[in-house]
Amino acid sequence: MELTKINAEPGDEIRTNGQIHPRFVAERTDKGDRQMKGDRQMTDEPRYDGPVVIVTGAGSGIGKAAALRFAREGARVVVADLNAETARAVVEEIQAAGGTAVAVTGDLSDQAVVDQVVQTAVDTFGGVDVLVNNAAIADRLTAAADVSDAEWDRVIRVNLTAPFLLTRAALPHMLAKGKGAIVNTASRAGLGGSAGGTAYTVSKHAVIGLTRSLAVMYRDAGIRANAIAPGATATNMYRDAPGSTTTNIALIAEVDPTARGPRTISPYMSNTGRVADADEQAAVIVFLASDDASNINGAIVPVDNGWSAI
Ligand SMILES: NC(=O)c1ccc[n+]([C@@H]2O[C@H](COP(=O)([O-])OP(=O)(O)OC[C@H]3O[C@@H](n4cnc5c(N)ncnc54)[C@H](O)[C@@H]3O)[C@@H](O)[C@H]2O)c1
Repeated sequence: MELTKINAEPGDEIRTNGQIHPRFVAERTDKGDRQMKGDRQMTDEPRYDGPVVIVTGAGSGIGKAAALRFAREGARVVVADLNAETARAVVEEIQAAGGTAVAVTGDLSDQAVVDQVVQTAVDTFGGVDVLVNNAAIADRLTAAADVSDAEWDRVIRVNLTAPFLLTRAALPHMLAKGKGAIVNTASRAGLGGSAGGTAYTVSKHAVIGLTRSLAVMYRDAGIRANAIAPGATATNMYRDAPGSTTTNIALIAEVDPTARGPRTISPYMSNTGRVADADEQAAVIVFLASDDASNINGAIVPVDNGWSAI
């Protein structure tokens, strides 16, 4: 586990660059607490007063796009990722644009790393306002009879248990403020059985269950929980996933023409529609985390060019 702190000293003046959307610039309450601003007035307030946002899997793809956008809009961002190099690069990119971020690297399925992420948010920035559970891994489109214990355990641990651990660790800090937002990255594979292997599909359905449970259990505490359900999105996961395109599915079938997973889902994977940019997913994550979505709780938002509507 490695901790990198960049541009995070208390009292730092963070310059604004005129491009900030004020959605996330904070106001101070009478008690000196920070809270998110719901209006859209332009402001010269320093970004340092912005809410504290943890984004997991922020070293790449959708998480990176979300971290950059949160920072552009005035949030202070904890960039959490397994990959120290990419996490550090994202923090440096945020810093270069005048934003504030800190990187925590490690495997988020490890409770000690989870604790480090949340403690860093609290120690460096004073709390946790927003948690984005986005990090995940793909499976190999394996159908149930062929799923190994190792594949099952790893996919469930990273895709489901890690978001639960992070949520459990962050909630006390949101409860203390009486306000918070959790945004989970589910998947089209969380809405049906035709967009992933068994372990990945189960994990993403369960992320939706986690989201809905949180939405109900913490509604009265001022904490909202929502999820996006991305369709095909141009990221490393999409490029690396064995079944991310019909071409790749065909390649797998060539290697193992009897492989049930790719063989059975390939007809549906040919109907994914236009591949999204990571920025198109990030825009919805940032919206759901903001006060613009103040009455949205427990929603699962497909961001999939209509794939799930078919
Ligand atoms: N790309 C798609 O087509 C697509 C479609 C549906 C859902 N999603 C979901 O979007 C989310 C983001 O994926 P992406 O497409 O940006 O992929 P990506 O591979 O580009 O990014 C995932 C990031 O998560 C990190 N990560 C993986 N395991 C981790 C762990 N144990 N601890 C900490 N960090 C870890 C990786 O290092 C990587 O930086 C995932 O939840 C994924 O399931 C993606």
